[in-house]
Amino acid sequence: MAEQSLVLNNVSKIYPMGQNNVTALDNINLEIKSGELITLLGPSGAGKTTLLNLLGGIDSPTSGEIYIFNELISELSPNQLADYRKKKVGFVFQFFNLLPSLTALENVEISIESFGKKDEIRNVAIKYLEAVGLGDRLDHIPSELSGGQQQRVTIARALVKEEYAEGKLLILMDEPTGNVDEETGDQILKLVKKIALDYNATFIVVTHNPLITQKLQSREIHIRNGKIVNDSDKPLNI
Ligand SMILES: Nc1ncnc2c1ncn2[C@@H]1O[C@H](COP(=O)(O)OP(=O)(O)O)[C@@H](O)[C@H]1O
Ligand SMILES: [Mg+2]
Repeated sequence: MAEQSLVLNNVSKIYPMGQNNVTALDNINLEIKSGELITLLGPSGAGKTTLLNLLGGIDSPTSGEIYIFNELISELSPNQLADYRKKKVGFVFQFFNLLPSLTALENVEISIESFGKKDEIRNVAIKYLEAVGLGDRLDHIPSELSGGQQQRVTIARALVKEEYAEGKLLILMDEPTGNVDEETGDQILKLVKKIALDYNATFIVVTHNPLITQKLQSREIHIRNGKIVNDSDKPLNI
């Protein structure tokens, strides 16, 4: 499918900080196709999380346009953005952010709870937990799971929306292996690579670790000081 799923035109994000403004993103232009797996690489402070937050509708740009699946999300109201996040975005964070008193199954169910009837939601959630290798951990709460297993739950929680998203699901991962050991991290990256092939979603994985891009063998977009300095799809001569 040649359809562009994400288009950013001259996107900047400036944080007002007293006397000094911080330019976190400086005139970003980007096109990403539906179904691509992207690694967004750059040192700490480069603007990676800021860019992810704009793509995920958590924050809005200071200027510029952001189209996601042909929708101009940079113009949406807060309520419309909340609806966009609920239906089309799955987040995976470094520190998992699971609800501690809910089971793995319940943590995944709440991601899609308004999308269907209770029994159906349950069966869909089980299917996606099985897809990440946790079919035998449905009733464990996060403290009864290892770090790697908790991260698999968050991946299932993000990916489960695919069942209802009609190919329009954006999965945003911010340093997904930042809080697990290297071996566990490698297993998570293998899982990410596999689900990116098996499912229709578009994946953006943020990291400051160049080894991770090698392991994912994905299109690499390098960001530094709020600017895109290299894109393996469109290498700039620098
Ligand atoms: N809410 C905020 N207010 C002010 N400055 C911010 C805020 N969030 C991020 N920044 C600044 O924007 C720049 C980019 O930050 P960030 O996107 O978090 O980088 P990265 O995720 O690549 O480490 C940094 O200089 C950071 O200090
Ligand atoms: Mg960050």
